[in-house]
Amino acid sequence: MASTQALRGRHIVLGLTGGIACYKAAELARELVRAGATVQVVMTEAAAQFITPVTMQALSGRPVFTSPWDARPPGNMAHIDLTRQAGGADAVLVAPASADFIAQLAQGRAGDLLSLLCLARPAARCPLLVAPAMNREMWAHPATQRNVAQIVADGAAVLGPDAGEQACGEVGDGRMLEAAALCEALVAHLQPKPLAGRTVLITAGPTFEAIDPVRGITNHSSGKMGFALARAAAEAGARVTLVAGPVHLPTPAGVRRIDVHSAEQMLAAVLPEAPRHQVFIATAAVADWRPAQVAAHKLKKGGSGHPPPLALVENPDILATVARLPAGQRPWCVGFAAESENLLHHAREKLRRKGVPLIVANLGPATFGRDDNAVVLVDADGEHALPQADKLTLARQLVHEIAARLPAAAP
Ligand code: C5P
Repeated sequence: MASTQALRGRHIVLGLTGGIACYKAAELARELVRAGATVQVVMTEAAAQFITPVTMQALSGRPVFTSPWDARPPGNMAHIDLTRQAGGADAVLVAPASADFIAQLAQGRAGDLLSLLCLARPAARCPLLVAPAMNREMWAHPATQRNVAQIVADGAAVLGPDAGEQACGEVGDGRMLEAAALCEALVAHLQPKPLAGRTVLITAGPTFEAIDPVRGITNHSSGKMGFALARAAAEAGARVTLVAGPVHLPTPAGVRRIDVHSAEQMLAAVLPEAPRHQVFIATAAVADWRPAQVAAHKLKKGGSGHPPPLALVENPDILATVARLPAGQRPWCVGFAAESENLLHHAREKLRRKGVPLIVANLGPATFGRDDNAVVLVDADGEHALPQADKLTLARQLVHEIAARLPAAAP
């Protein structure tokens, strides 16, 4: 789910080193510009063998730099200026990063403009992100792995690589991540980290309550809000576990996912996890009832004109069950209230009945399946509205509101 203009006002230095994945860097430059960033491209000589600076200049809308001897920057110091201009670069992203370039970084070498610039960047405010791209044997080689471990120890973030078919015809680890995934990883990296060191458990999606082997009771919940929250919490620095009902959504990067179908399975997945997490956010639209009995075989019409009797029993309330765990095992609980009318009244009543410190209220039928939403936070102190926005933007705001309300972590 794209949050529009997620990099608005950001200045990114995009470094290209030699590798066939340079063709993906063209798409990456476009993605970054589309996300609102200004992009300064710096290329090594080897990169210019794979894609021309002219292409990268056209896509980034800025002159490309390739040489430390380039006389264009004032003072003739491209390696200093390029991370300080335009208010200072927010990040240096090297994509693709070749095995040779990672080796240079690991050793602190500065033989060309890009390695020089990585070394000379103001490291405290300008993170270095590296997207490796190379043949699988090169990636797996102990020398490369040693170098990667070294640059991580020195503070770089390594994005990927992916596994799959390689340009050389071999199959394995070493493919550069796709442009969209790299852009998303950069956005995530630049988010504030109010949940650093915290653990967050989230339920999402609908549940499916089987009637027989082919039929069941479910609802229109898409899972989008819960998945957006999982992504936002992970971006904010939390370790996130997502217990998901049946939805076809990709797992957000870095999130641990447990798939379930029914409310009882969701409860069984949540209960052992809850005491291991500091925050529990229940976004799942859990079916209120389930068939008292699941037929072993498909129910037949039978020709009598009478539908089969369908006795229902109430499902366990997962949120209320977690909220009643003894102190010490109980995470800080957040519930959702999807109502069709009288929103605040129902939300406040739910706050009391479920015994949770925060309820996020929204107009249910208006939000199911949509990409945007508007909510009101209801807690003991009052109400706080978060206006209409896409669900990822809203999720990021919610994560901040939750972080601000959390009791201080035990030392
Ligand atoms: O009672 P109601 O379904 O309106 O409450 C909604 C909130 O409670 C949501 O946070 C939802 O995830 C949670 N819930 C639950 N288990 C249920 C029903 C609701 O965790 N069986």
